[in-house]
Amino acid sequence: MTDSHLPRRDFLSAAAAGLAATAMVAEASQRPRVAAAPRADLPAPGEFPVKVISSDNGQPATQKAFELMSAGTSPVDAVVAGVALVEADPSDTSVGYGGLPNEEGVVELDAAVMDGPRHLAGAVAALRNIKHPAQVALQVMRLTDHVLLVGDAALRFARAMGFPEENLLTEKARKIWLHWKLHLSDQDDWLAPDQADVDPETAEFFRSHSVIRAVAATSRAEFQRPTGTIHCAALNAQGEMACTTTTSGLAFKIPGRVGDSPIIGAGLYVDNEIGSCGSTGRGEANLLNLSSFAAVELMRSGMPPRDAGMEICRRIAQHTRRPDLLDEQGRPNFDLKFYLLDKTGRHAGVSLYGPAKFAVTDAQGTRLEECAFLYEKREAK
Ligand code: GLY
Repeated sequence: MTDSHLPRRDFLSAAAAGLAATAMVAEASQRPRVAAAPRADLPAPGEFPVKVISSDNGQPATQKAFELMSAGTSPVDAVVAGVALVEADPSDTSVGYGGLPNEEGVVELDAAVMDGPRHLAGAVAALRNIKHPAQVALQVMRLTDHVLLVGDAALRFARAMGFPEENLLTEKARKIWLHWKLHLSDQDDWLAPDQADVDPETAEFFRSHSVIRAVAATSRAEFQRPTGTIHCAALNAQGEMACTTTTSGLAFKIPGRVGDSPIIGAGLYVDNEIGSCGSTGRGEANLLNLSSFAAVELMRSGMPPRDAGMEICRRIAQHTRRPDLLDEQGRPNFDLKFYLLDKTGRHAGVSLYGPAKFAVTDAQGTRLEECAFLYEKREAK
């Protein structure tokens, strides 16, 4: 009902209530913010243990971000600069340039950044032709009042910001996509890989490449399409935190599919007073469980990073009910990993399936550490 339909007496009382509400908002905006009580378990500013963590493909990123922070760069700029190395790497088929394309053979990227001290975020989804989506996400955060831009509009925004456009599909990624197309079905018009008249080099590539063997080896229920990604999170000496997640998403996805990586709370989240969490793996599971936000909330309730990550893994396993997503023992037939860093500098990598590793750089150097995990990986048949 609009105001013009209100009886006069109701209209007057509604107007009075509106004025009162306006006065309350004005009063609230003048009230000093209540500062959180200082936490006894935290170091003094300047003395936080500087640390950067990442997925296992992120050692160059953690090292770069650590060096930049040591030279005074903010955590949010440092993590974006760190993952740029992996976004530009054609050999990583899960991120940026060289990422595996959608079902039409077009690379579509998702990315987000979150800045702890200002509690701000920026993200782009289904972005084509731009090598560094995390940098575009940073500009969304810095220059707009929005959090997420998608598709063609995200591309137009990136162009306006001066990002160069380029073809992101490498020959390697194109051949993997082609093999997937050929292998997909014997009911369509594409010839099977061993029947197709491809050049000898491509035939050898089909025979030898490990992703291709994985595509060819398994039925739909068993085959896990690659959902690589890089997540990177940082804590500086001032106790400032930030994180980013950037990906080409699920290989061979339906065009326009958006995963968890650009969704704040799903593929990443940071609360500067508590800690951060980010993820790689099957994004749909994170979207359905808002996993990164949930993990940070568990840390807020006092759980150490490892326990919070394990609890999220258990929750995802419990919430996975579609039969085609379960193995014969009722466990998820996909993988997910979480990277957790709390405000005191404790960190953990946690995986549904292990053994698995994640990357860390701190005063002790750059290394891979073991993830905690819920289930032992099955031997490949
Ligand atoms: N976690 C990456 C994706 O599902 O797109």
